[in-house]
Amino acid sequence: MPTFIETQFPIARLSAEAYKERKAGASQTLTGLGKWWGRKPLILVRASILGMLMPASNDAKKDREIFLKILTMDDDGTWQRCKGEIPAAAWREAATPEVQEEFFGARGLKQGLSDEDKEALFTQIWDALSPEQQQALDAQRMRPIPDRAEFDALPYAERLVHCERPENIAGPTPATWADINAHLGTTATCLSELIDQLGQRTFGHTPRVGDSFCGGGSIPFEAARIGCEAFGSDLNPVAGLLTWASLNLLGGGPEVQAEVARAQQQAFAAADRQITDWGIEHNDRGERAEAFLYCVEVKPEGCDYYIPLAPSWVVAEKYNIVTRWTRVGNAERLTPEVLAVSDAEFKLYKDKKGATVVDSRVVDPFDPNRSWSVEALRGTDGLRRWTNDDVVPRPDDVFQERLYCIRWAKTVTRNGKPKLERRYAAPDAADLAREAQVLTLLRERFADWQRAGFIPSRAIPESGAETDRLFRERGWTHWHHLFTPRQLLTYGCYLSQGAFATSKEARVALLLKLGVQANWNSKLCSWNGDKSKGPGNTDQTFVNQALNTLFNHGNKSFGLLQDSLLKPFAKTPSLTTTHSMQLVDAREIDHECDIWITDPPYADAVNYHELGDFFLSWYDKQIAKSFPAWTPDARAELAVRGSGEDFRRSMVEIYKNLARHMPNSGLQMVMFTHQDPAVWADLGMILWAAGLKATAAWTVSTETQAGGMKKGNYVQGTVCLVLRKRSANEPGFLDEVYPLVEDEVKRQIASMQALDEGGEPNFNDADYQLAAYAAALKVLTQYGNLDGKDVEHEVFAVRAKGEKSDFQAVIERALGIACDTLIPRGLENAWRDLSLVERYYLRSLDIESRGERRKGMYEELARGFGVTDIKPLLKSDKANGTRVASASALAASVLVAVGADGSGATGQIGTNVGRGRAAAAGPHPFAASPLRHLLFAVRETAANDNSPEPGRQYLRDTFGQGYWGRREGFVNLLEWLAALGNAEGMGEWVADSDAARMLAGRLRNDHA
Ligand SMILES: C[S@@+](CC[C@H](N)C(=O)[O-])C[C@H]1O[C@@H](n2cnc3c(N)ncnc32)[C@H](O)[C@@H]1O
Repeated sequence: MPTFIETQFPIARLSAEAYKERKAGASQTLTGLGKWWGRKPLILVRASILGMLMPASNDAKKDREIFLKILTMDDDGTWQRCKGEIPAAAWREAATPEVQEEFFGARGLKQGLSDEDKEALFTQIWDALSPEQQQALDAQRMRPIPDRAEFDALPYAERLVHCERPENIAGPTPATWADINAHLGTTATCLSELIDQLGQRTFGHTPRVGDSFCGGGSIPFEAARIGCEAFGSDLNPVAGLLTWASLNLLGGGPEVQAEVARAQQQAFAAADRQITDWGIEHNDRGERAEAFLYCVEVKPEGCDYYIPLAPSWVVAEKYNIVTRWTRVGNAERLTPEVLAVSDAEFKLYKDKKGATVVDSRVVDPFDPNRSWSVEALRGTDGLRRWTNDDVVPRPDDVFQERLYCIRWAKTVTRNGKPKLERRYAAPDAADLAREAQVLTLLRERFADWQRAGFIPSRAIPESGAETDRLFRERGWTHWHHLFTPRQLLTYGCYLSQGAFATSKEARVALLLKLGVQANWNSKLCSWNGDKSKGPGNTDQTFVNQALNTLFNHGNKSFGLLQDSLLKPFAKTPSLTTTHSMQLVDAREIDHECDIWITDPPYADAVNYHELGDFFLSWYDKQIAKSFPAWTPDARAELAVRGSGEDFRRSMVEIYKNLARHMPNSGLQMVMFTHQDPAVWADLGMILWAAGLKATAAWTVSTETQAGGMKKGNYVQGTVCLVLRKRSANEPGFLDEVYPLVEDEVKRQIASMQALDEGGEPNFNDADYQLAAYAAALKVLTQYGNLDGKDVEHEVFAVRAKGEKSDFQAVIERALGIACDTLIPRGLENAWRDLSLVERYYLRSLDIESRGERRKGMYEELARGFGVTDIKPLLKSDKANGTRVASASALAASVLVAVGADGSGATGQIGTNVGRGRAAAAGPHPFAASPLRHLLFAVRETAANDNSPEPGRQYLRDTFGQGYWGRREGFVNLLEWLAALGNAEGMGEWVADSDAARMLAGRLRNDHA
């Protein structure tokens, strides 16, 4: 019997929920534990597990209704979750005077805070309250839309703006449980009971859910939270620590959480006392530093002073603070001046006034005509490689480092109220003495702390894809080189307070808190002086999935880390089912699960093993103490990566292993995002060769709002491929497979279109294309072989560049079918008579008119229609700004006369026939097509002030007697083009659309 997810999945609602979860930024349940890349939304995991456990009945509509009820994603559920916002005035009231002063004005929140900032602020205020105070604050929520009917009438994504996430409410009401039980024949009163009962029914026990690539832990954590027995494993110890913490620290319940909070408090207080005693963050004006700004400086050949480097000298937009450099006498070192400037002057600084690094060149601050390439400054032999003992550059290193600004703060009393006053200043002699003291204190402890693992001691691996630039650009060879002496001293001081942690959970908590700081406070954290950041703040090290060196950066003081270090972890009820986390290569797993949900790394841009080492360098020795069974090493050689033969081999091995460790009734879900058909083909063959067959595939948009999907250029869908073990191994034959694929693709698309027409879902082109690939996989993977060819052999067959496997050919054929099934609305009659390249051009315009700008999508379409050279048809082929050339933009390019037989082989009319490769290889297939000539006629019409006569004449001359047979089709196409200019963002087409309308009118009334 199929499960719910094998028949349907409410992907539009799920996409909206996943988006809401993502937007919660720092207040997502697991993100507070630390950074991991590619975390899967918990709601997606919850829905997937439920969908794999819930049986499908004969009543699909009722199934869907019940499924949504269980997840509180039905109308009643969303209304129940619509608790409304707590008014800003109530937040203000609940905040401390300092927070009030900093973030609130007389009429609520201050301007310029991003949604994430607000979320973080509210979390901070909330967490500082007692349970009673929290309850009182919660009671002030007001449903922004008090009328139920009005609320229900909103599109789902808009409703969610006012809703809690499903994970944060108690779940369906008793009345709803009665409905659910009646349909499913269960007796549950909560989600975990339901999960248990469904599991008992299929597997004879509480369902066991595993993830062999568990990363940040979303899958095992959510599985355990909803009542499954959960198993997580990963190769990387940092992932291991995060997952372990999600299960044991968050899932440990109130007692564990209380112990963790106590250890956090005490460790912070002890480190803070020590740092205060050292006097390295306090001055004699009663102020404590909040942030230190450092920059690199360099003395290029021919320049007799060091140039401090930064692409911008803005310090704080909120107060117009900038840094200016002067040279006193013949000093080798320039003098910084940190000051507030006028609005006009500040604007210049925002526009990079005084920038000393522009386009990878160092610019002389006093003579903008003098500049040096950064690359050349590193010298032909590259930079000196730092040794373990180096914590600052040596005097003769090319790149020096210096402090240029400090942000000070002190609380004063104004009108009887405490007020935080801030001051930005260049360092004075006393500050520089404190810098020297930091260095001395660090050096005194350096060796001991490295030995104890309070500061990193690991070398950065050579020749990594990400780490390579650390050697090249700065000469850094050890992970601790990515931190200032100040950061090393204060972090080391904090980690050395481990004795306050009396449980393993608390020890892990302190480590993870340190990891969070490392991400937000390293030499790779740029200083963000934007207004939205208030007095300024650091950006995280991993703004993207890379290790980028910087010329200037911010360094938060230990005092400023207080909120973050004391911030409680997300509070979740204790997990009651069995759960475990193993640090093991997925090939070696020896654990039985009924359901495996995996999100493997494939053809992937994320180098987990390299990036993870940034954190592992802080954790390794502590991990060894708390987890003696774990190897505190990323074991890069075992990490699945790339897309070549090694990748395929390890993946087949891993999925064979997982299939071995599940019962015949078990299910798998493989989540991934890639859209390249070659990757799909690879993945399909891998899973096929592993003995699995696909039974369904759904794309959930995990990064962008469902409602905004059509507009978004950066839609990131997660494909959820559902698989079972292949029990029979019947042979398949290509010629039989094609029609089956065709049927399956059409069926899949029709069912998606039916949902689309319901008004809510809105799939985009990417979804349809992926659905086509998945449909092909579904058909193919039912068979044990194809035309007698063994699948495993095919996976590893060596192919010449560009050579395709049968599998890939079928997948691409599926795409072609999908492309052809998706006829732009209004072109249904004309479609049959168009050539593939004409269809391609029109489909491209169709997706462009719906906001699609990603080049990849135009390339995908081209593959579907078999068009090999799209460049001549595009006005722009920017990665995220692709546009199709309009009739006028094409002008006379890509245009050749129609041959007697309708081919385009005869004399060229255009002056610029086919840019690029096509020109050399003969005219572009589009060049002689009727559509191309029709576009030229539109262009002629537009160029003649919308007089249609020249255009009509052109068509009659071009097609001769054939014109009459084509006339009706032309009118249809022209009417379609006439509507294009009305679409949002299609301004380019306005004039051509008008011309098309005029020409259509003329052609309609044309007589022999
Ligand atoms: C895409 S991530 C998983 C993210 C995870 N689903 C989450 O929600 O955070 C892939 C994971 O596979 C892990 N990995 C890579 N090679 C592995 C192997 N041979 N065995 C086990 N895990 C591996 C990486 O360390 C990484 O954490």
